[in-house]
Amino acid sequence: MTRIIAIANQKGGTGKTTTAINLAAGLVRANPRHRVMLADIDPQANGTAVFLGVPFAAGPRLDGVNTMYEVILDQVAAAQALQTVTLLEGNGETAVGKMHILPSHLDLASAELELVNLFERERRLRHALAPIVNQYDFIIIDCPPSLGLLTVNALMTANEVLIPVDPGLFPLIGLNLLNRTIEMVRQANPSLAISGVVPTLVDRTALARDTQQELAATFGSRLLPAIPRRVAFGEAHAAGQDIFAYDLSSDSASAYADLVKEIMRRG
Ligand SMILES: Nc1ncnc2c1ncn2[C@@H]1O[C@H](COP(=O)(O)OP(=O)(O)O)[C@@H](O)[C@H]1O
Ligand SMILES: [Mg+2]
Repeated sequence: MTRIIAIANQKGGTGKTTTAINLAAGLVRANPRHRVMLADIDPQANGTAVFLGVPFAAGPRLDGVNTMYEVILDQVAAAQALQTVTLLEGNGETAVGKMHILPSHLDLASAELELVNLFERERRLRHALAPIVNQYDFIIIDCPPSLGLLTVNALMTANEVLIPVDPGLFPLIGLNLLNRTIEMVRQANPSLAISGVVPTLVDRTALARDTQQELAATFGSRLLPAIPRRVAFGEAHAAGQDIFAYDLSSDSASAYADLVKEIMRRG
């Protein structure tokens, strides 16, 4: 069965996109036979920008190029919007594998409004992906930082959700917001499994330590390997690379490799 994993948290800047792109790329690197799709349903299109460039994600629309916008509004089949990304070794030359991306574009922001009056508005993505789901082992969905219709579509399509949590969350708003997310997820799709919580942007501060302790107490075995706060992530994004291509020997890359291993082990 295809594992469809939504990366969700209604708070912005918690490392959703970073986790989505490195999980997707990491699954291909762990086994090039893995058939992986990264589905970008965030109108900010950051994940799309990393792999396909900023003009693709935010520039004028190119003739004949389709994105999540057309797919979710049922204007084209999902297969017609897919782009292939070749993942490279750090030397920038050797290909280690390929994956598909169902790209986003800034235009997707208006789809949220256009969806409101449509039939089965929460299940548009699920229906759109149905014809091609079986062609993949993993579909990773990068969600926007909100609980709007786009995120609900992702949660209705997924069979698992992964929640990246940064150290800022707990002292500010406590467990409340996170619990509300999970509650909302269950309402939307009772068969959805919370596959785990990933502590992100972890540094040496007391805040990060307290957050990790609280997450461990709350989520137990669903607490996944933590990701350190490192400037390399921003640099990798700017270079249009996943963290493995950018700096394979870094602890940033090994943290995501550990996460990938854990996700595969739990499959
Ligand atoms: N582990 C990390 N260490 C340092 N910076 C990070 C890390 N993860 C993400 N970032 C940076 O933080 C910002 C927000 O991350 P992002 O993955 O886009 O979050 P989200 O998708 O949840 O909004 C980006 O600028 C990104 O480069
Ligand atoms: Mg994002």
